[in-house]
Amino acid sequence: MTEQLISVLTRHPWVGSAQWDRKHGALMVRPTADAMAVRPAPGALVTEYLEHWRHVYEFVYSSDELRHGDDLDLSGWRASDTGAPFSREHMLEWIEHAVGLVRRGNPRFVLEIGCGSGLLVHRLHTFTRSYVGLDPAGPVVQRLRARQLPSVSVVQAAAHHLTDDRVTAAVGQLAPHGRPDCVLLNSVTQCFPDERYLTAVLDDALDLVAPGGTVVIGDIRNLATAYDFARWLERALGPGRAAEEIDRCAAARVDADEELLCDPRIFADLARRHPRSVRAAYYAKPMRADTELTRYRYDVVLTVDAPSSAPARTILWHDLPARDTAGRLRALADSVRRETTLVTGIPNALLDYESAEAVEPARVAAVLPTDYALLLDSADGRLLAAGRPEHQPDPTAWPDDPPNAFCNDPFARYLRRRMPEVLTDYLELLTTAPSLPPIAVVQESSAA
Ligand SMILES: C[S@@+](CC[C@H](N)C(=O)[O-])C[C@H]1O[C@@H](n2cnc3c(N)ncnc32)[C@H](O)[C@@H]1O
Repeated sequence: MTEQLISVLTRHPWVGSAQWDRKHGALMVRPTADAMAVRPAPGALVTEYLEHWRHVYEFVYSSDELRHGDDLDLSGWRASDTGAPFSREHMLEWIEHAVGLVRRGNPRFVLEIGCGSGLLVHRLHTFTRSYVGLDPAGPVVQRLRARQLPSVSVVQAAAHHLTDDRVTAAVGQLAPHGRPDCVLLNSVTQCFPDERYLTAVLDDALDLVAPGGTVVIGDIRNLATAYDFARWLERALGPGRAAEEIDRCAAARVDADEELLCDPRIFADLARRHPRSVRAAYYAKPMRADTELTRYRYDVVLTVDAPSSAPARTILWHDLPARDTAGRLRALADSVRRETTLVTGIPNALLDYESAEAVEPARVAAVLPTDYALLLDSADGRLLAAGRPEHQPDPTAWPDDPPNAFCNDPFARYLRRRMPEVLTDYLELLTTAPSLPPIAVVQESSAA
């Protein structure tokens, strides 16, 4: 009977090989390389994963519950620690920050990947000559099209369709030479299956953008602070538990995360490897409310063929001439007024509760002039820097911890669940076996 099950399984298009594992009492299946491929087009299993996220968002957008208006649909924006919607004020600050990141580059032609309900389209299109939005979720695409915003075109497409004819045609109609001067992905990378897909999409975006233009990747979930986030969440969800119990549950939570998390180093690596000259800047979230969005997410702006800039005077936060935080903030404000300054080593009070010198991101952001930004300090994920984005502390200096892991691998986790489900149904349909053994997936990491 096992032989017959193996023979049927190997006819399934997802299955490269199948064999009986006596030790585990399970049928072990290995997916085909074609089904796992990202390039030239997503294979069947990657497509299955992407479709799963499309359905998730079509469901999210089907509810009117958090729709405050056509230009403020906050569907899905709930806090993990309380389950309650994020406040409107907090989300407006979050939006304003993303809009500001795009507007720093002063783009005339924007291509937004994963534009959703248009939180950013509605606020950016008046500053641009034209705007193309892409999203795989049908209902929001219909809704945004129905808004008929001037010089805005919306295409139902996913990130990997960037070089497809219909996207190229939409961009070609609106941008001269078919090149946007900003490609924007805000709060989208968490839906990507793995590092391979992320890299392929960002490589396409960097190829496409006009010289001097930017690729803005906003609201990235931070892999470097994934355990901090999980512990914070565990403490909020089950207060009063022993530290070991919190740590154990946090580790399980990180392992079970179904979204893509990115270590900041991946963007430095991408910038270094890309054939065009690419400069990376890492922005911290400067919102006033203390939420997971402010604490554990960040933004990256990749600038292509950026002009070179004069160096800044660099000072450590600790060395600013002041006795307390208020004094340091005044010294920072004075210094940036007098000369181009980069202040590094600012402990983030939302992440480092121990340091007496720690300060909330919003307080630092509030004293900076508009050409400055609150950046991540590459020396340590809990440190901030204040400076002009072109003076981003050396992005190649990120600590190598954990080594080699640029992203987690939600795709591998999804396959371990989804393949056995589908293949069990398949065997039930095509065989007469009275009972079926468990099926497990043998898989090399898809990030390889
Ligand atoms: C959290 S929403 C963000 C929407 C919008 N960018 C914003 O900032 O309000 C994530 C969006 O990404 C879209 N999305 C999911 N997978 C995607 C993919 N592979 N390519 C492009 N967009 C995707 C979803 O349909 C959804 O609209």
